[in-house]
Amino acid sequence: MNPDSHSTPVSRPFAQPQLHLIDNPHEADADVLVTGIYLDQPLSPTLAVIDKVSDGSVGRLVKQGKVSAKRGDTFLIPGPGTKSDGGGPHLVMILGLGDRLTNESSTISNRSLAFDSAATALRGLPKGSVSGVNVALAECFEEDVHDMIVAGAISALEGQAIYQTGSDATSPEAIGFSGLVESALQQGQSLGQSINHTKRLVNEPPSILFPESFAERARVIADEVGLGIEVWDEKRLEAEGCRAILAVGAGSSRPPRLVILKHNGGGDEPPVAIVGKGVTFDSGGLSIKPSEGMLTMKMDMAGAATVVGVMHALAKLDVKRNVIGVCGLAENMISGSSYKLGDVIETRSGKTIEIHNTDAEGRVVLADTLDVAIGHLPVAMLDLATLTGACMVALGKEVAGLMTNDQSLCDAVSNAARIEGEPVWQLPMFELYDDKIKSKVADIKNVGEARWGGAITAAKFLQQFVGDVPWVHTDIAGPAFADSPLPARDAGATGVMVRTLIRWIQSMS
Ligand code: BES
Ligand code: MN
Ligand code: ZN
Repeated sequence: MNPDSHSTPVSRPFAQPQLHLIDNPHEADADVLVTGIYLDQPLSPTLAVIDKVSDGSVGRLVKQGKVSAKRGDTFLIPGPGTKSDGGGPHLVMILGLGDRLTNESSTISNRSLAFDSAATALRGLPKGSVSGVNVALAECFEEDVHDMIVAGAISALEGQAIYQTGSDATSPEAIGFSGLVESALQQGQSLGQSINHTKRLVNEPPSILFPESFAERARVIADEVGLGIEVWDEKRLEAEGCRAILAVGAGSSRPPRLVILKHNGGGDEPPVAIVGKGVTFDSGGLSIKPSEGMLTMKMDMAGAATVVGVMHALAKLDVKRNVIGVCGLAENMISGSSYKLGDVIETRSGKTIEIHNTDAEGRVVLADTLDVAIGHLPVAMLDLATLTGACMVALGKEVAGLMTNDQSLCDAVSNAARIEGEPVWQLPMFELYDDKIKSKVADIKNVGEARWGGAITAAKFLQQFVGDVPWVHTDIAGPAFADSPLPARDAGATGVMVRTLIRWIQSMS
């Protein structure tokens, strides 16, 4: 019997608006035309025309302070379509873009501003029947960020309310973009869809999304875009010696899985490996979490979901690299067969782990998952994991922690993150932390001493399983899942790091 047969709803399908290119946005029919305005800058060409045909009303509103160019503010005015019979938009949204960015920082870049602006506009549409939207934001940005306008618009349509019945969230049937080229439209759409795949996987409830169903969804996505896929079931995991993954999954009626996705764009060159923690629900196991801490733990597979989103994008964008994505999937539950404190597990690599806390399960799953990945002899490896509360204490909820055994690789990832405007910060991997995970019984134990430096001792644990492969660990416990919404995105899954990883992989020579 399906152990989760109490939970059988089906989430709403992805919004799939028609995307097209338009000219002369001030004349094109639309319910809403989106335009942008910078602080202390002349009106954009489209806004200038709107101003002209409306007898200077835009200029007046700006002067009166009614229209603000403050970043993220939106203001709606009647458009030319309400007066003339020649058509045109019925409403014009004027979106504040703030100061023109000259110095891109590690938390905002022109690419993230373009993404967030389009997303804010689409999320801020008047509720009700908005079926046709035109976006004239490209004229406010350089060409190299135009794809992000499309990606942001698509991403805005995927939030956490995927089981809300009744009135649908505002989802336009068609979105027109002016001032950009077909390739930016295509690339932006692919990126937006990839981010949405990641968010959907994370937002699905744990009784819908468990190791087996995660693997099935990964297969559907892989088949759709032409990725190779291999799924290891519990028998294969046994045969492969993945006892660490099996141990974490042992308490659950949902058996673990391991998924290997393959993108072959680089001939016979050695691959890049991306590896994700896929704990589809983290109760803490016998070291049980308090209820508040457990509530959001459907998101503990965000690393694996990010791997799926990135692999989807690599295939859609036809990136000329070989990349393998490996997802370690298990549900951390409590039962008579749960793994226990004091247990010693021989991992696939042969290294033994003593379990001191069953809630430090992500690193245990990753021990085998990383070992499978290095078996493919990658030139570089990056893992993503919602690994530690300690990383959130160190860096806050918005910033991902990076830890590495190869500084130049880490710099390349940081650089990609800076360009995409996804905040990351490196934490040290000093040797002095190595002692903290020594065990008196086995090779290592799965927690450090006390709570201090918890993000780093977790990374030190992972490092035991990466061999000599240049490697970056990304702790996304904070930024993967948001408690509250922002103008540019809903609460819940964020799809963080998808954009950064694609840029990083594309940038590798
Ligand atoms: N999945 C959690 C980490 C986490 C916490 C992610 C909050 C997102 C939000 C992880 O498995 C965990 O429980 N880590 C423990 C480690 C500790 C037992 C050493 C933690 O951070 O408390
Ligand atoms: Mn845990
Ligand atoms: Zn966890």
